[in-house]
Amino acid sequence: MVGFDDARGRHLDLLRGLLGRHGDKSISERPSFLSNVADDTSPIEFSVAFDATGECVVRVLGETVGAGSPREFLDRVAGEYGLVTDRLDAVADLFLPHEERQGPFTLWYSLIFRPGREPKIKVYLNPQISGPTMADSLVSEGLRRLNIAGAFDPMIEHALGRGERDNFSFFALDLDDDPLSRVKVYVSHDAADSADAERAAELVAGTDPLLIREFLAVLGGRKGPFDGRPLVSSYSFVEGSGERPANYSVYLPIRSYVPDDDVARARVHAVLAQYGFDRTRMDKALAAVSRRPLHDGVGLISHVALRMGEFGSGITVYLSSEAYRVMPPHKRPVLGLFS
Ligand code: TRP
Repeated sequence: MVGFDDARGRHLDLLRGLLGRHGDKSISERPSFLSNVADDTSPIEFSVAFDATGECVVRVLGETVGAGSPREFLDRVAGEYGLVTDRLDAVADLFLPHEERQGPFTLWYSLIFRPGREPKIKVYLNPQISGPTMADSLVSEGLRRLNIAGAFDPMIEHALGRGERDNFSFFALDLDDDPLSRVKVYVSHDAADSADAERAAELVAGTDPLLIREFLAVLGGRKGPFDGRPLVSSYSFVEGSGERPANYSVYLPIRSYVPDDDVARARVHAVLAQYGFDRTRMDKALAAVSRRPLHDGVGLISHVALRMGEFGSGITVYLSSEAYRVMPPHKRPVLGLFS
């Protein structure tokens, strides 16, 4: 897609392994499994991460459908890719219980492709797996087992102060033994304002509330409330930098806040230009995932994230699969009003 010709075959094999039987299906068949990875129930979403270092990373978020155990894919590729699963093993009984599971997913994977390097793999666990009342204790106990127990209370204070409207939504682990390997905790903010994300970011050194406000205003077309799909915050903890998160990201589900993907693309272009990133890369990625006219639907550009902190800053653009369905455009604003 964006410069991977030499390694393409191997990357495709890895992706095929992740998708399991789904990867061999024709898209004209009805989906046998309804995934929450993408709005149209397909189990795959692409993203392009622009980094302030100039690096551009392509990632694929996916879910194995129809396999026996959700860990099967991991066990199959762990050897070949030198994955380190200690941290996953340490929390597996919390997040992958044998009892009945709840919430929108059990285990998602992200395949991370950098030109000229081995792919990396990350797993996403679901704090809601045993129901909403258990989420806080699962995250708290998970952090304790990963030796960052002290990380919990500051997150509650900065990002979960609005009662039932703030919820832990993902618990993610990098599976390599790089010293920068991360634990990442995500919080969804229902009906939040920009100020709520700015407060969440304050926990992390080197974040700038003004950049968050501007990012959300340009991409979302408002200061708030973001009362469509929720804003999401994430904190990254890096081994060696203790119990304080080293990075913060805010995710805007832009598809709830634009009439169509043509408008979404224009707004993303504006933000990429502001940060000096190469907009043609985003257009190449768009062209690689879809050929439909952008104003004919909404949701191809699903989220946009702003990342900041000690371990890199940048913008990530998420591109949805529209294998099963293109969501029709929302109505254009009347007299400038749109929601
Ligand atoms: N589709 C889900 C959602 O929008 C999960 C998801 C996929 C997601 N990619 C994401 C959530 C990026 C936040 C950020 O909630």
